[in-house]
Amino acid sequence: MRCGNRVKIRPAIAADIPAMMGLEKHSVTAAHWSRQQYDTIFSQRSPRRLALLIEEESVVQGCLIASAMDLEWEIENIAVAGSARRRGLGTRLVGEFLNLARTQGAQAVFLEVRESNGAARALYEKWAFLESGRRPRYYREPEEDAIVYRLCFP
Ligand SMILES: CC(C)(COP(=O)(O)OP(=O)(O)OC[C@H]1O[C@@H](n2cnc3c(N)ncnc32)[C@H](O)[C@@H]1OP(=O)(O)O)[C@@H](O)C(=O)NCCC(=O)NCCS
Repeated sequence: MRCGNRVKIRPAIAADIPAMMGLEKHSVTAAHWSRQQYDTIFSQRSPRRLALLIEEESVVQGCLIASAMDLEWEIENIAVAGSARRRGLGTRLVGEFLNLARTQGAQAVFLEVRESNGAARALYEKWAFLESGRRPRYYREPEEDAIVYRLCFP
């Protein structure tokens, strides 16, 4: 079943941190952040950030966090609840983020992903991200290379 009208994407607020941490905790391949790092997203000293949630019937099913430096954005994390995967929610989240980033004047978006993370890599490739580099042994536990993906807006 693909997602329909009962799906809503909205900006996250500080009160959503427990839900965001819950999603990440159940996603071994997501980036793992401390509570303090989540707090930073909503602090005024934070770099320019976007944190989006996707809800189905008001239940948080996924989140995406990105930050901007000048005209370049980085997708720092994305996770969809295990039971909600393969139904297009990740595609919707990335699409909404790309629209917002473009609206804010972004020229490019990049991200790093574990080489073995086929699901995430397929998601990014679906949005026409291109491999632009490799960071050897970038990840720990287990050690693994990161693949860098980049999307340039025309
Ligand atoms: C990566 C992730 C966010 C994708 O979310 P999702 O809602 O399942 O993604 P979608 O349903 O929109 O799928 C988008 C595309 O990704 C690919 N894909 C998703 N899951 C896949 C899987 N298990 N195997 C192969 N391809 C997969 C498909 O190409 C799919 O398109 P299709 O359904 O039209 O074939 C989700 O798997 C997840 O939360 N993983 C754990 C956290 C993580 O690894 N985050 C990435 C950190 S860089």
